[in-house]
Amino acid sequence: MTRTCLVTGGAGFIGCAVSADLADAFDRVIALDNLHPQIHAERRRPAALDPRVELRVGDVTREDDWDALLDDARPDVILHLAAETGTGQSLTEASRHALVNVVGTTRMLDALVRHDALPEKIVLTSSRATYGEGMWKAADGSTHYPGQRTHAMLEAGQWDFPGLVPVAQQSGRVRPAPANVYASTKLCQENLVASWCGSFGVTPVLFRLQNVYGPGQSLINPYTGIISLFVRLAGAGESIPVYEDGEIIRDFVFIDDVASAVVAGVLISEAQIEPYDIGLGERTTMLQVARIIAARYGAPEPHVTGQFRDGDVRSAWADTCEARSRLDWEPEVPVAEGITRLCAWIDSQEVA
Ligand SMILES: NC(=O)c1ccc[n+]([C@@H]2O[C@H](COP(=O)([O-])OP(=O)(O)OC[C@H]3O[C@@H](n4cnc5c(N)ncnc54)[C@H](O)[C@@H]3O)[C@@H](O)[C@H]2O)c1
Repeated sequence: MTRTCLVTGGAGFIGCAVSADLADAFDRVIALDNLHPQIHAERRRPAALDPRVELRVGDVTREDDWDALLDDARPDVILHLAAETGTGQSLTEASRHALVNVVGTTRMLDALVRHDALPEKIVLTSSRATYGEGMWKAADGSTHYPGQRTHAMLEAGQWDFPGLVPVAQQSGRVRPAPANVYASTKLCQENLVASWCGSFGVTPVLFRLQNVYGPGQSLINPYTGIISLFVRLAGAGESIPVYEDGEIIRDFVFIDDVASAVVAGVLISEAQIEPYDIGLGERTTMLQVARIIAARYGAPEPHVTGQFRDGDVRSAWADTCEARSRLDWEPEVPVAEGITRLCAWIDSQEVA
């Protein structure tokens, strides 16, 4: 029996990174991708997409694209990656983000029913953005959800919440509290997939990914990828400006580590409605990242600017215990090594 895996958004950063492993594991792998111009400047098949993958240029929001695909293929597993991913952009283009992320998901689910083509499993990559500012803890052990930092707080340089320290993000322990439209649409996707799968006996596997970086990430999308911006500045010999007091915390997880987690979700995971938190599981400050990049290019020391962006969360990193034990998965690439590999790749792209 032919086993088929469908990957929506399969020509993107993560789609390309999982493509070879999926092509090894399935008889047929189909990528449905509209080659979004914000990511694919030349709107061509990416070289990094495994040649065994059939690329269907189509849009997840279009019923006729779904009909054409499902007339020809019965996916056993669907990996749903297609999304609009611009966090800041989503605040001013809310409908576009909701259309692709929310309606694109429901169009997929409706098409599966219409074609009587229920898969065994749907794997969804959601985001750590769903936590917003997440949970913080006081000295007495009490937990708090302080919510979004206000403009007034940020203007006064009050970056943290007095008396509180942040807690690692873990879906079983920290409840979601999206702080922007992108995050809200990703949480909606999770709820749609989980509830629909529950009703139809399809296995859902949900992931919340931290900040994914590495070779293959879009260098032309101005709305994502702070690391590539830092690389550009340092490469031009400039001092990298770092917002707030430099101590914004993120969990940078290398693309290979994300790919191995997602492939494990496709191949081995049982139903998992509590999303797996995927990160390196380590806190890295933006100033640390800037210093690693500046050192590589011999650029001047980064400088802290005190500037800020409304809606930025102060702190985000994952508690990866569940993913490690249930997926038999381990992130392997430390931040300094991953950044060095990304820089080498960016440099090679520029030479090419
Ligand atoms: N990269 C990260 O840091 C990160 C973090 C958390 C979650 N995620 C999630 O992982 C998924 C994949 O992310 P990525 O980094 O590979 O992003 P990406 O932008 O590189 O890839 C997304 C792909 O989806 C395609 N696409 C966009 N709109 C589409 C549409 N309407 N129809 C069909 N295809 C469409 C794009 O052309 C692109 O190839 C997304 O759902 C994203 O929300 C990514």
